[in-house]
Amino acid sequence: MEDEQGKKLCQLAMAGDNNGVTSLVNAGYDVAYFDNNGLTPLMHAAKHGHADIVRKLLDAGAPWNALSPSGLCAGDFAMDNAHQDAFDVLLNAGVQAELVLGTIARKEKENNHPNGCYLEDRVSFSEDKLMDSDSKAVMMAWENPLMEAHAKAVCSRGGHILNIGFGMGLVDTAIQQYNPVSHTIVEAHPEVYDRMLQNGWGEKKNVKIVLGRWQDVIPKLDSYDGIFFDTYGEYYEDLREFQQHLPKLLKPGGIYSFFNGLCGDNAFFHVVYCNLVSLELESLGYATQLIPLPVKDCLPEPVWEGVRQKYWQLDTYYLPVCQSNDDE
Ligand SMILES: C[S@@+](CC[C@H](N)C(=O)[O-])C[C@H]1O[C@@H](n2cnc3c(N)ncnc32)[C@H](O)[C@@H]1O
Repeated sequence: MEDEQGKKLCQLAMAGDNNGVTSLVNAGYDVAYFDNNGLTPLMHAAKHGHADIVRKLLDAGAPWNALSPSGLCAGDFAMDNAHQDAFDVLLNAGVQAELVLGTIARKEKENNHPNGCYLEDRVSFSEDKLMDSDSKAVMMAWENPLMEAHAKAVCSRGGHILNIGFGMGLVDTAIQQYNPVSHTIVEAHPEVYDRMLQNGWGEKKNVKIVLGRWQDVIPKLDSYDGIFFDTYGEYYEDLREFQQHLPKLLKPGGIYSFFNGLCGDNAFFHVVYCNLVSLELESLGYATQLIPLPVKDCLPEPVWEGVRQKYWQLDTYYLPVCQSNDDE
């Protein structure tokens, strides 16, 4: 019986029968139903661009972030089929939901450190990647062009530069090419730190290395003309928390950027998080520009050999450049 109801709802959503969907929703049909192809009524409505039905289903509690067997959500279907109205409704729903969830997560966080394990485990270095003990990539060489672009952005005003997270030192190598007045690097992993010293980073005249988690060493930091943030094993909440310190850490007119790997395995979730982070930065007084950089060519399949998780699967990288609204 439930199956029949769910199928009916999917059919009407696909056909764009607004009144039909309304009466089934009012009759209590399951809006979170998955049909035989693993699609929900919301996905069907999105795929066919029925924005009013998308709105109705969301209002009735349909999950905006449910995934099809091939890992696509309703927003991906709207996006792939160029249904702008349905896409906008879903984007708004996603951003609102994550804003609320963020509030809940912040309340629940209570000082637990998500990356405690990573920082205590061994890491291994090779020419093209830095891996954790779980065969997940901490950093990979394919990101080099991205790191060069980040360095160019945060060094565009010269002066004093701060980088959080050394990894393979790609961004720091690029920053050095701009000859900053000072270049502070915060790194929390003891083995990464040792390797920095072995490779001579401790002897560079303009470089200051701060060993520790950024959360713990922030009181030791100054204020900077350019800041880049790229850690590992942390959550969106940590990025958000770091950004709360920008008004103190970033000089007036300074540039802030961060590695934008937010939900890098799903195109629509990535758009939701790009919007969310821009909104949160705006509430702190910063305008964010997202500069598209094509990355498809840097990522032939063999790049991921031996890596447990493909943390990036999209064709375009959106490089964030943030600056105080007062400075525009
Ligand atoms: C993705 S890598 C950075 C890659 C770097 N941008 C590059 O160009 O090679 C992340 C680095 O952040 C460090 N890290 C992780 N959590 C940290 C924290 N809370 N504070 C400071 N560094 C942290 C990791 O040990 C790792 O070296």
